[in-house]
Amino acid sequence: MKRKLGILISGRGSNMMALVEAARDPACPYEVALIASDKLEAPGLRWASQKRIPTFAQTPKGMPKSEYEERIDAALRACDVEAIALAGYMRLLTDDFVARWRGRIVNIHPSLLPKYKGLDTHARAIEAGDSHGGCSVHIVTEELDGGEVLGQAQVPILPGDTSETLAERVLAEEHRLYPRIVAEWLSR
Ligand code: GRF
Repeated sequence: MKRKLGILISGRGSNMMALVEAARDPACPYEVALIASDKLEAPGLRWASQKRIPTFAQTPKGMPKSEYEERIDAALRACDVEAIALAGYMRLLTDDFVARWRGRIVNIHPSLLPKYKGLDTHARAIEAGDSHGGCSVHIVTEELDGGEVLGQAQVPILPGDTSETLAERVLAEEHRLYPRIVAEWLSR
């Protein structure tokens, strides 16, 4: 039986697309049961609907955060989701939500954790003179970008790199790394 994965997005959702494409392989241990977003107009939602994948959008505006997350949680459970992948989901989850899904949420972060948690990761790696940037897949805990790292990919920083050029090459690695690590994680 394939494990049912829910994916949370806020934007273009290119990592979500990589996870969806990988799930087409019959040997992939997961299927994508729901793509949910805090943005009604997230471009990734349109793409998912065209692929006939169930989608759910809920704006957090005008309600307490607990109520917003309750609705996301209910939508995930209604689709029998067992594990959640964050893919460019730009909201912090509450401790309560993380506790409900303890050990069952992963995220992809565009740095070689534990370096550069938070935002502007590529600019910070370039500024520090690092030889490599990269991306990490990690378990989501209450600590921002702080949970167990499940896998990483390194990308050399080239002379003249800007955060944009580095981000582009790291993103290509994210699309390879995330489906592979999620598949390994859900096979354990
Ligand atoms: C990626 O850089 C990812 O590492 C970060 O947010 C960005 C999302 O891009 N968490 P996309 O929406 O998956 O295209």
